[in-house]
Amino acid sequence: MLPAYVPNSAAVILGGGTPIDGGRVHEDGRRLLGNGKTFRGLVLGILAGVLVGCVQLWVQTMDFPDVLPRQTFLTVVTLSAGALAGDLVKSYFKRRRGMDQGRPWPIADQYDLVAGALLLTFIAAPSWVLTYVTLPVLFWILVLTPLLHRAANMLGHSMGLKDVPW
Ligand code: CTP
Ligand code: MG
Repeated sequence: MLPAYVPNSAAVILGGGTPIDGGRVHEDGRRLLGNGKTFRGLVLGILAGVLVGCVQLWVQTMDFPDVLPRQTFLTVVTLSAGALAGDLVKSYFKRRRGMDQGRPWPIADQYDLVAGALLLTFIAAPSWVLTYVTLPVLFWILVLTPLLHRAANMLGHSMGLKDVPW
């Protein structure tokens, strides 16, 4: 899941600039996605996830325990891109619910990246997901993700990167 976890934090650090929705407004009068979803955050976030995934691919070429999932370049890309795609979809629905940018939306804020990463990876490489994302693995992903999410956001807040600690 590393290539899926990295893009969100990378987008916070490296993002900003032109919003993906170009300032466009939905027929409900609210922004399509909002100023928190930028091209730079999307592209550099995905690249950061892919970079970390490539380090995993390199580590795998060494003596590597067979019990650990083997990343492929395809899964590295889909885990990373899927994570931020899930984040975009989440923000779209957040705006449709009338929630302003940065407002917390429990569950959705934590699991958007998991849903996006696993869904895109399942579409691209179903056998990889069925082989490695077993029920116990999924259980631990669901337990650890909110904790990692919270820890990363508190760190980002204390470092002055995020306005709010969530
Ligand atoms: N970010 C970005 N581009 C993205 C995703 C994130 O530039 N595709 C940056 C933005 O600066 C954003 C910050 O990372 O404000 C935090 O991301 P996130 O919490 O996902 O966005 P919010 O600003 O909270 O907006 P939303 O309410 O839509 O989730
Ligand atoms: Mg947020």
